[in-house]
Amino acid sequence: MAKENRKQVDLSLRQFIKDLGYITGGGALLSSVPWLQSFTPDKLNEIKKEKARIALIGTGSRGQYHIHNLLEIGHAEIVALCDNYAPNLKEAHALYPKAKTYTDYKKLLESNDIDGVVIATPLNWHAPMVLDSLAAGKHVFCEKSMALTMDECKAIYDAYQTTDKVLYFCMQRMFDEKYVKGIQMIHSGLIGDVVGARCHWFRNHDWRRPVPSPALEKQINWRLYWESSAGLMTELASHQLEVCNWATKRVPRSVMGMGDIVFWKDGREVYDSVNLIYHYDNDVKINYESLISNRFNGMEDQILGHKGTMDLAKGVYYYEEDKSGSGIEQLLNQIGNKVFTSVPIAGPSWRPETKKAYKPHYIMEGNFNINEGVSMIGAEKDGSDIILSAFCQACITGEKGQNIVEEAYSATMLCLLGNQAMAEQRKIEFPDEYKIPYIKF
Ligand SMILES: NC(=O)c1ccc[n+]([C@@H]2O[C@H](COP(=O)([O-])OP(=O)(O)OC[C@H]3O[C@@H](n4cnc5c(N)ncnc54)[C@H](O)[C@@H]3O)[C@@H](O)[C@H]2O)c1
Repeated sequence: MAKENRKQVDLSLRQFIKDLGYITGGGALLSSVPWLQSFTPDKLNEIKKEKARIALIGTGSRGQYHIHNLLEIGHAEIVALCDNYAPNLKEAHALYPKAKTYTDYKKLLESNDIDGVVIATPLNWHAPMVLDSLAAGKHVFCEKSMALTMDECKAIYDAYQTTDKVLYFCMQRMFDEKYVKGIQMIHSGLIGDVVGARCHWFRNHDWRRPVPSPALEKQINWRLYWESSAGLMTELASHQLEVCNWATKRVPRSVMGMGDIVFWKDGREVYDSVNLIYHYDNDVKINYESLISNRFNGMEDQILGHKGTMDLAKGVYYYEEDKSGSGIEQLLNQIGNKVFTSVPIAGPSWRPETKKAYKPHYIMEGNFNINEGVSMIGAEKDGSDIILSAFCQACITGEKGQNIVEEAYSATMLCLLGNQAMAEQRKIEFPDEYKIPYIKF
């Protein structure tokens, strides 16, 4: 891109961001996320003195993280904690001793002193707990993914159509400032037409937790067994597939893939390696990969446009024009400019098309770790605190989120269809019986 043009893009981009009204801080962000209609800092002021009475079901690792966040939310008060595993309940109670404790979530739901429940239990418990909580007249915030089976997802979606209660799923990227802003940039045409997506999540860890007694293996290592987990897809990919749908404003119609246990052959059932291709009706594809025995590539959510690439996880984008030129392009230019009289057939006279260093542009302004090419703004926050704060506010106002359930439904369905495609080793189409009006292929 010519220098002059680039300057124009940068200036208009800065203006564009200004127009979006971004100021650091949840209140300002909440007024501009697409999932909330009348959620303004004024509204937050209005309800300042009120507190949503929140109960937490599932006080393990994620549940305790939510307790820390809830303690920072001025318009929330933790009133009850529930877990059927005593050590976790004890740890959680120590974080907030004023809360009442329960071991049976159904008993907790009988209480009239609870406005909303936060569910952070293993995936197989999501559907029964969400449905029972809605039936008990509570507002519900449930961890991702939506549920373990497609039928359960549909049952939750159907229940949501007839309730006046608020229902959130913790797909926190939807409330992560760099994602919200990055996707708005994509929608504004910054990277041109979206022509593909590449998402991956690499780790080098067995995903196991120490178990005090063998009888507790399935309870504590629930992620490793199909009866309680849908593996890497619902634990990791769901966040990333949602981002692709949000960016493309579509849902893929079909998926193919392969899943295996490549390395951690320790009695687990779920794959430790998945590779999938999701296909949108406009022929754009998501290339998805997750492997937990090599972490070289880390985690990335890349949306590819014909003019640039948005790397949302890093908070960075690149223009195609900022590269130094591919090997083939260079060769063709050299031939065009008569640098060579004929095509060279031996020797390294042109560079291979290995990945070039592109100039990073940052989604958020501020201090950046330029060397890493990663934006450090918002890196310490991932939206989990903001989505929880929005839910607590909704417990007071009764205002439902816009398409939060629908986005979680679509993403979870794609995860489950991906698992089906890998198990049956065939291409799977999105089944008619699970389509909902929100889904546009
Ligand atoms: N949004 C995210 O980024 C994110 C991150 C981590 C975990 N999660 C989700 O949070 C949920 C919990 O994950 P975790 O890592 O905290 O698991 P965990 O095993 O640490 O905690 C789950 C807790 O639920 C309790 N529990 C299980 N069955 C119960 C029941 N019937 N009644 C009451 N309590 C019960 C367990 O005893 C445990 O304390 C999962 O759905 C997971 O996918 C989401």
